Amino acid sequence: MSDTAATTESPSRSPLSEEVARRRTFAIISHPDAGKTTLTEKLLLFGGAINLAGQVKAKGERRNTRSDWMKIERERGISVVTSVMTFEFNDLVFNLLDTPGHEDFSEDTYRTLTAVDSAVMVIDAAKGIEARTRKLFEVCRLRDIPIITFINKMDRESRDTFELLDEIEKTLALDTTPMTWPVGRGRDFLGTYDVVSGGVRLLEGGGAKTGATEQIDIGDLGKRNPNLDVAEVRDELALASEACKPFELAAFREGHLTPVYFGSALRNFGVGDLLEGLGKFAPAPRAQDSDLRKVEAAEPRMSAFVFKIQANMDPNHRDRIAFARLCSGKLSRGMKAKLVRTGKNMSLSSPQFFFAQDRSVADEAFAGDVVGIPNHGTLRIGDTLTEGEDLTFVGVPSFAPEIVRRVRLTDAMKAKKLKEALQQMSEEGVVQVFRPRDGAPALVGVVGPLQLDVLKARLDAEYSLPVEFEISEFSLARWISSDDRKKLDAFVAANNSGIADDVDGDPVFMAKNEFYLGYTRERAEGITFSNVKDVK
Ligand code: G4P
Repeated sequence: MSDTAATTESPSRSPLSEEVARRRTFAIISHPDAGKTTLTEKLLLFGGAINLAGQVKAKGERRNTRSDWMKIERERGISVVTSVMTFEFNDLVFNLLDTPGHEDFSEDTYRTLTAVDSAVMVIDAAKGIEARTRKLFEVCRLRDIPIITFINKMDRESRDTFELLDEIEKTLALDTTPMTWPVGRGRDFLGTYDVVSGGVRLLEGGGAKTGATEQIDIGDLGKRNPNLDVAEVRDELALASEACKPFELAAFREGHLTPVYFGSALRNFGVGDLLEGLGKFAPAPRAQDSDLRKVEAAEPRMSAFVFKIQANMDPNHRDRIAFARLCSGKLSRGMKAKLVRTGKNMSLSSPQFFFAQDRSVADEAFAGDVVGIPNHGTLRIGDTLTEGEDLTFVGVPSFAPEIVRRVRLTDAMKAKKLKEALQQMSEEGVVQVFRPRDGAPALVGVVGPLQLDVLKARLDAEYSLPVEFEISEFSLARWISSDDRKKLDAFVAANNSGIADDVDGDPVFMAKNEFYLGYTRERAEGITFSNVKDVK
């Protein structure tokens, strides 16, 4: 009897599923300058993960001192690396996956978005939806990642609230539900009205930090600030409650609706509401697609995939940290896991947990968490680790490069070393490498030119390989495949001078320009040309 009861209850009550249900793994998407760094800092403050504001920005500088190649970051004031920050709030564990701010490193950002279950979209209240926000939103939409919106900088002059909501709805085709509503704007921004409780949270009151609301009549707010147009506020609130869709959890989870919060990251206002919203509405770790089946987060056997490699925490040892998102089960320090690509087991002797800035040794991590696995080149982007099952997670993408260059080595004697170095760099996702089948020197492909600067600096610093990049006859790369092996072989044979192998040895068609690509494609019956590839 009791056995049956235990069995029925265990799927939802097991310690593992309880741990999984506590996780919220998310990223922040925004256009540069909208306030992502400031918001990150304040979120961490809420979680008690750091006690000093300003640490997130300082982080870049501290990291830069760790290695030479990151000089690029320091000189240009940009952040190249992606990091993970874990903090607790209200008994929930939040994993915030940071993404590089500069769009030249957007490949890194896209891959990071494969490892989250939800995203916070930060919008500058004066600017609305900007180009990069829109692009990152599209990536989220491809993966049905639910989005929570934070309209930031309400303490400054901002656009009309309805206009902002309308812009989100129209440009992103996403329904909006304001969860809070701004009272006053710019210099006269007093706080927010909480749509659910009907209370008011004042910028200059205790509610700014605690998130607590007070029941204050709008008329009384007018007495506090004579500039506030009380009638207008009342009209807006009445119109908002009439015109805006009520919040619907299912629509949000499916990516059709976004709850909207208003605030000021700089003034630490509205951040608590946002965090509460994330805790309440954002999904716990979702099931992940693999080549064999969907893997549920609360399954007992551990599985994970690598979405990012970060090298050179210490330039003297070519150490790499592979960032792996746990998809199911529990990872314990010292456990063995199978690297499915090679079929070999590896010991996870010192996985690292990312509690705020400190890399600390974790004893255990659960589905939804991200761990750093130190290795010397064993792990590459897209790798799957399991407790034995031969499944491979799908969906970590590689994008066709926007820029293709030929690598010219100044010292021809070092060709072999260059080959090895380029292989490593492509496994880390620094650049993509294409090896022409006709034996010509390697081509590298990137999304943004700064990636080339990073490659050059790293080849020089780590491998003593000074290189130059030359314009190549090719400017486009497309992965080619066919259901019919013979057709693919025939195409490759007929176009040999334009065929290269990527890092996995998969064939890529290199084209001079769009016209030539289109011309070839039209005549290549049965061949698929793709500008995205799932990393295997
Ligand atoms: P990003 O990571 O999205 O690029 O943005 P970041 O947080 O660095 O913020 C960009 C600028 O906007 C910063 O000012 C920051 O202080 C300011 N900011 C962020 N949130 C708010 C807000 O809620 N209200 C107001 N008024 N300003 C905000 P900066 O002058 O460029 O940098 P700093 O010298 O102040 O650090």
